[in-house]
Amino acid sequence: MTMKNKVTTAIFPVAGMGTRFLPATKSVPKEIMTLVDRPLIQYAIDEARAAGITEFIFVTSRGKGALEDYFDLAPNLEEELRRKGKTDILKMLEDTNMDSGAIAYIRQHKALGLGHAVWCARRLIGDQPFAVILPDDVISADKPCLQQMVEAYEETGGNMVAAMEVAPERTSSYGILDVENTDGNLLEVRSMVEKPSAGEAPSNLAVIGRYILAPSVLKNLDQMKRGAGGEIQLTDAIAEDLEQNRKVYGYRFQGQRFDCGSKSGFLQATVAYGLARPELRDDLADYLKSIVPGL
Ligand code: UTP
Repeated sequence: MTMKNKVTTAIFPVAGMGTRFLPATKSVPKEIMTLVDRPLIQYAIDEARAAGITEFIFVTSRGKGALEDYFDLAPNLEEELRRKGKTDILKMLEDTNMDSGAIAYIRQHKALGLGHAVWCARRLIGDQPFAVILPDDVISADKPCLQQMVEAYEETGGNMVAAMEVAPERTSSYGILDVENTDGNLLEVRSMVEKPSAGEAPSNLAVIGRYILAPSVLKNLDQMKRGAGGEIQLTDAIAEDLEQNRKVYGYRFQGQRFDCGSKSGFLQATVAYGLARPELRDDLADYLKSIVPGL
């Protein structure tokens, strides 16, 4: 590994409006919504930490105060738990504490798109590669997805996006890759297109919310080009790197991804993560069997 390929900073774009979860998202940021007993953002932070990330940049917007509060220490609560001898809960809570100064918050003043949200963090990114994690993509994996990617990236450099196959009728909801090779985990990308219209997708390999990007992508975003849906798209800025002969890799990760930005995906994740908890498994499985005959 060269120092150039070491990734220690991650951007978490959390400035979207979360319209699919209205009315809840009128007052609760989507990233604070709870999967079993942890907010979505905690899963994303845990994954980043496992991958060696030490600097966390949140791109937030109006109404995301609860997210910032979540990362404050809770000394009164901790003291109370200590007094009551609830050491397990105390330990779990302490594990969520962040080092002072490890988190930076930047505002995206207008929801102009994911590319724009990432660009808002440009002054905090030097000339090192950085990760981008979308907390609404929750990935259950033995080795956390970003860690898999960071390990691969240490060998490749360039840019890397998480990739997975989606049903052909779903390609118009994703960034889609055109790749040189389709075997193995590491796919060399020829081109990529955001939300291709039906029949125009070059494959059914979709980009999922984990990226490792070179600072050149931020430069490309300087142009503020509007793409699919009139938004400033991250996919377009990565595709521009390809045009400038820089490499982009798709990484086919091991693990199951849940689209917690959608109601159905969130419900599926709730069931899967509930069943994965030893203390909940039997009750939940019994209930599911009772309402779904033949399960
Ligand atoms: P989504 O496309 O899921 O949009 O954004 P959204 O606003 O969060 O949710 P819906 O579609 O209205 O229900 C994908 C990710 O990009 C971030 C979101 O916060 C989410 O993590 N994002 C999107 C921004 O930070 N800024 C934007 O302008 C757009």
